[in-house]
Amino acid sequence: MSADPMLAWLGQPVGASAHAAEIDRIMALVHWLMLIMFVGWGVFFVYVLVRFRSGRNPRAAYHGVRGRWSTWIEGGVLAAEIALLGFFSIPFWSTNVDALPVGRQSTVVRVIAEQFAWNVHYPGPDGSFGRTVPTLVNADNPIGLDRDDPAGKDDLTTINRLNVPIGKPVVVFLSSKDVVHSFGLPQMRVKQDAVPGIVQPVWFTPMMTGEWNIACSQLCGLAHFRMKGVYAVQSQEDYDAWLEEEASFLEP
Ligand code: CUA
Repeated sequence: MSADPMLAWLGQPVGASAHAAEIDRIMALVHWLMLIMFVGWGVFFVYVLVRFRSGRNPRAAYHGVRGRWSTWIEGGVLAAEIALLGFFSIPFWSTNVDALPVGRQSTVVRVIAEQFAWNVHYPGPDGSFGRTVPTLVNADNPIGLDRDDPAGKDDLTTINRLNVPIGKPVVVFLSSKDVVHSFGLPQMRVKQDAVPGIVQPVWFTPMMTGEWNIACSQLCGLAHFRMKGVYAVQSQEDYDAWLEEEASFLEP
């Protein structure tokens, strides 16, 4: 449940990542500003309808607004928006989006979107991804992983299943095989377009165990509605056990 009554009313899902509270604060501020402006505009509109009705104003006045208060209100809205950008959005972006924590302590996976599934590629115990080749793509190997590549022998791939351990950064290198999709993890406050021809990193630090849906958040075709996967945040032990189980399915 979100602390802000606005987000609670909007039905915001649980915030389960390290940056969720900060992003919620920004979203709440934006929504409050929009609510104030919406009510303000609505009241002003009704006032104008009554004040400038034809019965009271048989002849049009051409001089327009004389007072300065509208300028002050516009200035106030502008200042609020600049404050949102300068004090909240831009600092958040530099620490939580740009500063990619690629290193030993991070879980690094590739997610390859396609119509209409999420392919997940784990590098395996050696920590490096095997190469992928378009000509190897088929129904059993949707990402075209080359098992003859030494780095690819221990790699794991799943479809519509992303498991990650709790408490350390997860870096997802996101791409698409066909059209633009959008990788949405609502509880992690993560949403990133998957664009063909681009490998786009996105990262988050899960702080709560649980299992939720990966939601495609971009209209990508007729079956967009059923393009959902499952992602699970697990304890390190459960995650290691899961990796081991998945590895046991690999051909020797
Ligand atoms: Cu993929 Cu919508």
